[in-house]
Amino acid sequence: MKVITVVGARPQFIKSVPVSRALEAASVREFLVHTGQHYDVNMSQIFFDELGIPRPHVNLGVGSSTHGRQTGEMLIRLEEIILKEKPDMVLVYGDTNSTLAAALAAVKLHIPVAHVEAGLRSFNRQMPEEHNRVLTDHCADLFFCPTATAVENLTREGIKKGVYLTGDVMYDAVRIFSEQARDRSTILQRLGLTRGSYLLATVHRPRNTDDPQRLRALVEAFMRLDAPVIFPTHPRTRQRLSLLNLSPGYLAQRDVHLLDPVGYLDMLMLEQNARLILTDSGGIQKEAYFFAVPCITLREETEWVETVNAGWNVLVGADVEKILHFAHTFVPRVTPPPVFGDGRAADKIAAIIRTWDSHNRFSIK
Ligand code: UD1
Ligand code: UDP
Repeated sequence: MKVITVVGARPQFIKSVPVSRALEAASVREFLVHTGQHYDVNMSQIFFDELGIPRPHVNLGVGSSTHGRQTGEMLIRLEEIILKEKPDMVLVYGDTNSTLAAALAAVKLHIPVAHVEAGLRSFNRQMPEEHNRVLTDHCADLFFCPTATAVENLTREGIKKGVYLTGDVMYDAVRIFSEQARDRSTILQRLGLTRGSYLLATVHRPRNTDDPQRLRALVEAFMRLDAPVIFPTHPRTRQRLSLLNLSPGYLAQRDVHLLDPVGYLDMLMLEQNARLILTDSGGIQKEAYFFAVPCITLREETEWVETVNAGWNVLVGADVEKILHFAHTFVPRVTPPPVFGDGRAADKIAAIIRTWDSHNRFSIK
């Protein structure tokens, strides 16, 4: 069995680690393709170095562009690679343009597609990720769902075959790397932070970064919070803040501290020691939940509804007063229920891939 795995964006490098290890243990050969969607050292290479990810067999070097151009260039190059490498399956993660390009390239060549993090829906078609999720799921043959809600979403869309509730591979990653983070990360000492003395913020969704009013509102709220805000800043956001003349120096004077994007081990330390997390990231909402740190989500909706239902996450959009209200009053009352599996999703995924019989493909007559 030979699988081509396609990754390209920061969270995909992290998600792929437990699965690649499990595939190797299951004697499944993996050919790793990096699309080059993320390319700054601290958006890409740092994860390969820190997490021991093998050097990709190919890096397409596609880089940043408009959605059509970026996805199209990936599609062209991925088709060539799939034709040359003749895999038994193409494995994709999450909901980025790299995910969709790989799923589309594979399905057109009649190569089975396996989707890790299948079935997630925000029901907001303004989000590029929502197009990518829906379309990828409708190209795929194997669906590895992190939550029961994801399974229900697929059922509603008529997708019932090849659907597995495996749990979330990001929980596996946290299980694997938490101890290493405690041993190897020095970020708290470097920044002079102690447990519970600061808030952690991240913002990178186009809806928040590309709308000046929303970005200004978020920054205003951060400046009015009652504790230092540590803000590892995605390059997209850094550019937009600069266009609004919100310089790192100006923000630091108001206790909002922009950092370059940090590695995963540093991020795990920042997350688990924060008093509260404010984010529009999908992955970070979940990590807040895994560490039982209250989360304020800077969006109107979320795919990770379990975190909200359990009382550990609130959706506030970019509403300054709501952000301040919840940041100062939000105290979850119950222990977070284990809704993301047992931290062994990758083993289940690898076992299913290894034994999967392609004659089961529901779409091939
Ligand atoms: C992408 C994904 C998003 C995911 C996020 C994870 C899509 C449509 N979006 O969003 O789902 O949550 O990755 O972080 O696939 N840039 C750099 N250096 C880099 C990478 C990006 O400077 O290494 C800048 C470029 O100006 C680029 C912008 O960031 O135009 C956005 O990058 P892009 O990959 O298009 O989308 P993300 O916002 O990173
Ligand atoms: N992350 C990181 N360093 C950072 C910001 C995020 O290592 O500076 C990790 C974070 O811990 C999580 C993943 O990247 O595992 C989330 O990625 P991101 O927020 O970019 O994307 P999303 O999950 O929203 O797709």
